[in-house]
Amino acid sequence: MTEPDHLLSVLRRHAPSFVSGEEVCRELNVTRQAVWKQVQGLRHQGYGVEGRPRQGYRLLSSPDRLLPAEIQCGLGTVALGCRIVYLERAGSTSDVARDLARQGAPEGTLVVTEEQTAGRGRRGRSWNCPFGRGLLFSLVLRPPVRPACAPQVTMVAAVALARAIEKVTGLAPGIKWPNDLLLEGKKVCGILTEMDAEPEVINSVVIGVGLNANLAEGELEPGRATSLKLQAGKDIGRVRLLQEALRQLEEWYRIWQVGGFTVIRAEWEKRSVTLDRLVRVRLGDISLAGRAVGVDEEGALLLELPDGATQRLLAGEVTFEDSYGRGPGEEWECRRG
Ligand code: BTN
Repeated sequence: MTEPDHLLSVLRRHAPSFVSGEEVCRELNVTRQAVWKQVQGLRHQGYGVEGRPRQGYRLLSSPDRLLPAEIQCGLGTVALGCRIVYLERAGSTSDVARDLARQGAPEGTLVVTEEQTAGRGRRGRSWNCPFGRGLLFSLVLRPPVRPACAPQVTMVAAVALARAIEKVTGLAPGIKWPNDLLLEGKKVCGILTEMDAEPEVINSVVIGVGLNANLAEGELEPGRATSLKLQAGKDIGRVRLLQEALRQLEEWYRIWQVGGFTVIRAEWEKRSVTLDRLVRVRLGDISLAGRAVGVDEEGALLLELPDGATQRLLAGEVTFEDSYGRGPGEEWECRRG
């Protein structure tokens, strides 16, 4: 624990009461002047710390920042979030996490930021977010499975994040294949899974999560995206949400490793808004339509085509179609453009 984190834990332990300067000096084993300097440091980070002659110090408030000391306070996970890299601003947390993974960062390493300026989404899209409004983080995982099973990790993440959102806000997001979380049909969270692998082994998987926590209407793509704040009608505590996300991710990652994919698939299917729907899947200039009937062991979407054949799709962008009878028959064929 760093000295400021130690001071914070002492203040927290006594809050809302004062703790004498003398006691703080004793606990931290530093001079009064050093304590004063650390108090100033905490205030600079946004903590409200009151100091009174003869009474000492007390913690009044914590900042709405995703600071490691805040995240780790009462987190209770074994591996996820064991090491936290906090960046006020980042290009992309997934780029930082990937570099750390290559340098040998342990499983569970978390990279988190308040603002992303070159964030990456799936299929070459960008994912940026204004300061302090979203939950933007990437996690280094080292799953002991074959590279072909990596999409299962994304499904583990989708299930875990849906449950975390539900626990913290009471809202129940649906999962749109492959890994978007939706509320009232609008995207609230995206997951980007990137893998560093050799033919038979995974070196690391970086799970990048972009969650629209407290974004306002004007900060979201009109008609297509929403935020937890808009849906819940109140601000969402981002630290609490991140802690719950880490707990759920650890729990479901463990369930997957111990019990295999079956439980994950069942939970994913329960929350799926894609299955049993008429959908169109676009991949590059190919577009294929049919009924989504399931997902397989590799996370591929199984699409029942109008001629009864089943098509397996490992990637693509899903849109929902109204009905088979909506347009001319060709609407349900594979087409280009
Ligand atoms: C998607 O396209 O739906 C996935 C979006 C993933 C965005 C997150 S934000 C944190 C992490 N860093 C990135 O650059 N991307 C992911």
